[in-house]
Amino acid sequence: MPSFDRPTILMCPPDFYGIEYEINPWMSRSRQSDSSLAREQWAALRDLLESVGAKVELLEPVDGLPDLVFTANAGLVWHDRVYLSRFRHQARQGETPHDGDWFRAAGFEVRDVVGDWSFEGAGDALFCGDTLFAGYVIRSDVNALQWLGADVGCQVVPVQLVDDFFYHLDTCFCPLAPGEAVYHPPAFDDYGQRAIVNQVPELYAVAPEEAARFACNAVVVGRHVVLNTGCPRLEAELSRRGYTPHATPLDEFIKAGGSAKCLTLRLDGEDAAGWRAETVDGRATGPLPPVP
Ligand code: ARG
Repeated sequence: MPSFDRPTILMCPPDFYGIEYEINPWMSRSRQSDSSLAREQWAALRDLLESVGAKVELLEPVDGLPDLVFTANAGLVWHDRVYLSRFRHQARQGETPHDGDWFRAAGFEVRDVVGDWSFEGAGDALFCGDTLFAGYVIRSDVNALQWLGADVGCQVVPVQLVDDFFYHLDTCFCPLAPGEAVYHPPAFDDYGQRAIVNQVPELYAVAPEEAARFACNAVVVGRHVVLNTGCPRLEAELSRRGYTPHATPLDEFIKAGGSAKCLTLRLDGEDAAGWRAETVDGRATGPLPPVP
């Protein structure tokens, strides 16, 4: 069984990262990423996460799997269990066996979603308190998300994603703590917007131009929030709420439709997840490490 003594994040170095296919509107093979700049930006993100108290674990990069860097899509972690992704697009389906091997070696119980539904892991399934918010249609199927909620035994709030630029839930919704989140309302239909408003008492709607800078794709480590540059209004709001924002440039990854959150997978449970506060590996996880 995996055990964690501090916030632990899975990342994958961008050795084979590039824009080799187009499966979302951010990607264009004619707008290639600069590989040395991508390495620099990725390393700066890793260093920043470590500087705010996280431990970073590494998934080995694989030639021919350029999007393996986006570890948020490896699966959904719940306690010592991971539900592996089943990617919508064939271009990413080769990632799953590598993800599965990593999780098995790390001691996780590995489960597949039943049926032949698509499911893209923490990209589309995010806990806010005890509720699992589940983005569907573009990449994940609602049946997969409902099945998952039943298997975990938690309430699921399915929200339909309606804008191809915000094709994963983590591009337009970011839980900060139980009952607190930031989101980009136009990425959801009216029903989804109302469902979020009804479930999350402390909500902040990001400015549209900051949503386009992946403002919602932020990584929360305790009271620290790591995000892409170009989101000054969200940074100010986070400070007002008692968080410390840390901006770092991730433009090379935005070319593939991803930013800070997509490049990470929290292994001990997100701060906003209600189940995390209880125990990990049967032991109380205790308070987060002191703020540096
Ligand atoms: N190019 C990748 C894709 O389209 C980017 C994935 C971003 N990941 C995320 N969790 N939003 O699948």
